[in-house]
Amino acid sequence: MDFIPYGLQWIDEEDIDEVVRVLKSDWITTGPKIKEFEDALSYYIGCRYCAAVNSGTSALDIAVQSLDLPQGSEIITTPFTFVATSNAIIYNGHKPIFVDICSDTFNINSDEIRKKITPRTKAIIYVDFAGHPCDIKEIKEIAREYDLYLIEDACHAIGAEYDHEKVGNFADLTIFSFHPVKHITTGEGGAVATNNEELYEKMLLLRSHGIDKNAFDRYGPDASWAYDMKYLGRNYRMTDFQAALGISQLKKLDFFIKKRMELVSMYNELIGDIEFIRLPCVKNNVRHAWHIYTVLLEGSIDRDEFFKHMRTSGIGVNVHYIPAYRHSYYIRNFDINRDDYPVAEDVFSRIITLPLYSRMGNDKLEYVCNSIKKYKK
Ligand SMILES: Cc1ncc(COP(=O)(O)O)c(C=O)c1O
Repeated sequence: MDFIPYGLQWIDEEDIDEVVRVLKSDWITTGPKIKEFEDALSYYIGCRYCAAVNSGTSALDIAVQSLDLPQGSEIITTPFTFVATSNAIIYNGHKPIFVDICSDTFNINSDEIRKKITPRTKAIIYVDFAGHPCDIKEIKEIAREYDLYLIEDACHAIGAEYDHEKVGNFADLTIFSFHPVKHITTGEGGAVATNNEELYEKMLLLRSHGIDKNAFDRYGPDASWAYDMKYLGRNYRMTDFQAALGISQLKKLDFFIKKRMELVSMYNELIGDIEFIRLPCVKNNVRHAWHIYTVLLEGSIDRDEFFKHMRTSGIGVNVHYIPAYRHSYYIRNFDINRDDYPVAEDVFSRIITLPLYSRMGNDKLEYVCNSIKKYKK
């Protein structure tokens, strides 16, 4: 059996043809495919606007920047995420305030958020871990009470639903990633979804140096050469051939999620009765998008030895996540006490991600499950 990665893209001939068509055209960046992709994304999510950028990290960065918060503001977030989430707070001169997670979904614990709010708190960035939406109702309630902005890091959760509504319609700004391990890919890529016109207009500038006219608008016989740089933006632009790939991939998103759900059902059935495995939880008011399939190891199982057993069996298990506050940069720069995060610490010591991607064959999944069963304590 070839090495089985934990995540992998699914690119077909149709995707390749769409990319090649753009590569043969005059506009390979800042052209018409960007808006077409953004419109298709907005339509899928059911929101008013989407701004496409070159990564989920860039999307987080311009989302925080667009809020124009006073320097040194505190932004509450989860430590149980990829570092890009809390890094975006720091890029913008603000301070990440970590709140512990729930022991079932591993999402930020909304009951703990209130305890960390100070007069400097201006926003919350919550992450839909693995594709399971957070307690959005409770988080929105807190945001309303304390007048806070909400950013939803839905890099794991495109296509997920909360109370039958698609993720992308709850927070002021919602972030998606199109990295190859995600549900759909543009190679690298990301987007911010919003229903707020003012923030949307600002993000269009922030992704391109803060300049008020892009190359497409300055092209043709009647266009002027003039432009103004209104904000300190960067070059976070997506290319048109990436957008073409995104449009083509988006058409298959629901099929990809369905495949992931089928694989998850198979996993649950095949390993559900192993006494040292705790399966992921799914609350009944959500549609889980299943970016990753994580299990908790119970009893006396040593996660790192189990990890080694699986890797030597050719299986690309992984650990999502090392809590952000454990990284040396965070330890050097912030006053961190791990004891403040007992749930994140416990989950981190026992969690393991099993391979899950839409074109994973059943034979591979069975091989993973049999390898788990062969593990000798
Ligand atoms: C929760 C979360 N936020 C942000 C990112 C950053 O996305 P990207 O890799 O597209 O920059 C990731 C990527 O893995 C992620 O998992």
